[in-house]
Amino acid sequence: MARPRVAYACTECGARQGRWVGRCPDCGAWNSLEEVVEAPAPRARRTVGYAGEAAQVRSLAEVRPEGDTARLATGLGELDRVLGGGLVPGSVVLLGGDPGVGKSTLLLQALAHLGREAPVLYVTGEESLRQVALRAQRLGLGEAPLRLLAETQVEAVLEHATREAPRVMAIDSIQTLHTEALASAPGSVGQVRESAARLVRHAKATGTALFLVGHVTKEGSLAGPRVLEHMVDTVLYFEGDTGSRFRVVRAVKNRFGAVNELGVFAMTDAGLREVSNPSALFLQRHERQVPGSVVLVTREGTRPLLVEVQALVAPSHLGNPRRVAVGLEVQRLGMLLAVLQRHAGVSLHDQDVFLNVVGGVRVEETAADLAVLLAVLSSLRDRPLPRELAVFGEVGLAGEIRPVPGGPERLREAAKHGFRQAVVPRANAPRSGGAAGLAVRPVRRLEEALAAAFEEA
Ligand code: TYD
Ligand code: MG
Repeated sequence: MARPRVAYACTECGARQGRWVGRCPDCGAWNSLEEVVEAPAPRARRTVGYAGEAAQVRSLAEVRPEGDTARLATGLGELDRVLGGGLVPGSVVLLGGDPGVGKSTLLLQALAHLGREAPVLYVTGEESLRQVALRAQRLGLGEAPLRLLAETQVEAVLEHATREAPRVMAIDSIQTLHTEALASAPGSVGQVRESAARLVRHAKATGTALFLVGHVTKEGSLAGPRVLEHMVDTVLYFEGDTGSRFRVVRAVKNRFGAVNELGVFAMTDAGLREVSNPSALFLQRHERQVPGSVVLVTREGTRPLLVEVQALVAPSHLGNPRRVAVGLEVQRLGMLLAVLQRHAGVSLHDQDVFLNVVGGVRVEETAADLAVLLAVLSSLRDRPLPRELAVFGEVGLAGEIRPVPGGPERLREAAKHGFRQAVVPRANAPRSGGAAGLAVRPVRRLEEALAAAFEEA
């Protein structure tokens, strides 16, 4: 028998090296290489196509796409939304997240619903069948038509899957699986990747929809889901602050829907409950309007979301005043403060600036620029902005207010939540009037925007 070849794989990026080095030459991570045993290269085989059949060249018009009617509903509207409108048969969905965030709970709830329409199989490598049954009972799903399997060896899982022929299968979690083809320990890069590859092949060949649970740790010390991202169709991250009961599922890759789509849940004692109106959740209005607070209409995926941006500006005793941003990019804050100085004559060189997006939301779009500057100025002047004001817009280096995508939806969302005024980029303002009950003030320059926002304060 040939000796298995030994290689070294990076736990950060998955790249392979022939010998151990302290720093991964591909991604630059330190101390991230670990030993993996590579399976001997397989013999040349008959060419096999994507779905297991011999590959053939076809013309596009001949190939029938699966219509949207083929999608399966998970019973959780927010999960269906991030999946792009339900689960696509034969697709592979990676569900990543910190331990304890609620991945098993979410899957159990989804599978229990899917099980009513089609055979489903839940494979657990972390918990015993009794633990799963206990959780199902707590969730009120004790009678759900769900098939369970406690198994950690991929070959055995596939054997059962072939016999059971489920339409939906969940693996909880991919890090606990191992294949006998490799000698390395479960959880190592090689094992995770090879186990996943076998499962993905099975899913594509049989049209089974597959959920893979993957733990991510802050340090990325486990062979994380990152090495799997390119192998799957959809990558969902399940996030939530410890201590908060709200959970957010975010699509970071989706071959069957929009990315950055967001689903919001609340963890209750009866499992995860959907939150279908997240604006109301992230926006807790103050009794009285306070300085330094501005409501921003941001966008998560295709959905507009109202969030509160807060700033605190205080005299600095440091030679290098502090710039702190939570939920926003700090470099962008620095840039915006420079624009404020140049185009509005407001200098903050002797002030510390702290910025926060309330509710732990991360805002990555430039549409937050105007809200940031208004919050900063409101805090500096100790003057509250009007209570019914919502804003959005990008601020350019020349002091111009630039349009952002999704203007009409943002305005509608603001109107829906009772906002009466909006300061927005001119190109985003509707031609006629505005949304119901919302007075829209189109602005082109930063000076105009500041005047419009503070005028009625
Ligand atoms: P779990 O789904 O086991 O997390 P993961 O699979 O991502 O590791 O969820 C664990 C947490 O959820 C745990 O702290 C308890 C909490 N939880 C509830 O609050 N209510 C419930 O009904 C359930 C089942 C769990
Ligand atoms: Mg779990």
